[in-house]
Amino acid sequence: MRKDQHFPVLLEEVLQYLNPQEGESFLDLTAGYGGHASEVLERTFSPKKASLVDRDQNAVAFLKEQFKGQAVNIIHKDYLAAAQELNQAGKQFDMILADLGVSSPHLDNASRGFSIRLDGPLDMRMDERQKLTAYDIVNNYSEESLRGIIRKYGEEPRANKITRFIVESRPVRSTHELAAIVARAWPGPKSRAHPATRTFQALRMAVNDELDLLEKALPVWIDLLAPGGRIVVISFHSLEDRIVKRTLNEMAGNRYDASLMLLSKQIVTGSAKEIVFNPRARSAKLRAAAKINTQKKGEV
Ligand SMILES: C[S@@+](CC[C@H](N)C(=O)[O-])C[C@H]1O[C@@H](n2cnc3c(N)ncnc32)[C@H](O)[C@@H]1O
Repeated sequence: MRKDQHFPVLLEEVLQYLNPQEGESFLDLTAGYGGHASEVLERTFSPKKASLVDRDQNAVAFLKEQFKGQAVNIIHKDYLAAAQELNQAGKQFDMILADLGVSSPHLDNASRGFSIRLDGPLDMRMDERQKLTAYDIVNNYSEESLRGIIRKYGEEPRANKITRFIVESRPVRSTHELAAIVARAWPGPKSRAHPATRTFQALRMAVNDELDLLEKALPVWIDLLAPGGRIVVISFHSLEDRIVKRTLNEMAGNRYDASLMLLSKQIVTGSAKEIVFNPRARSAKLRAAAKINTQKKGEV
């Protein structure tokens, strides 16, 4: 992937809330193709204090090349495992960013199986070392479990019918086969999005255990923030945003022991200008908070 093909989402807003200063440390939990990270590091001039995490092998290889010779710490792990490891090592960061979801190369590479548009195997693993694939879920899960996934993660009103059609068509081998089966459950006039969009999203979230990981990881990320440190989380799904909102609000709250201060009281979304050239910005939801320095004067 060429750098000029990738537009980091909500870049202006990310820089506004992270507010990078020279010499500060940075943890990017979903570094992807380094779009946000390179902009932050151009402002901190402190690559040695940066840790970049991604669970995708291709993204990690790209990051290693991009930041070659700069002593950036690049970690090939999921963001919960990476955060736990950094926490155990006693690390703290002035800025933490998580730009959730898939990257453009995931969607543009048919063999990864994320795309409705391109025909490929039913895979959808962000980390290809993992065993569970979309094929396993589509073909081997009980009808009830499959329906639950499509209903819960996809918020799909026709989950019943779609699941029945899928089960009747087993084995389903490719993304195009699956998309055609789901489309049969949506006869009549079509909206702009492909009728299988919600089903694909649900399967992707289940394969990569996205909501559970986010729920467990957020408190660890907040633990990793240095006093005065800023955290920015960008999500693309209402269920993800709900988890981010609830966790940040709980830790901010109007309490004597609040550990966070919300920097964005309302959700921040892409500007009309950005949405025109970066379609990913259409559903991006940003929330930001800062760690309160809880140590009072005179306290040891
Ligand atoms: C939207 S892209 C990030 C793009 C990045 N901000 C940039 O500017 O290039 C999301 C990245 O997060 C990674 N990712 C998603 N879930 C993850 C997880 N649980 N742990 C680690 N990486 C994850 C994906 O592999 C993908 O590369």
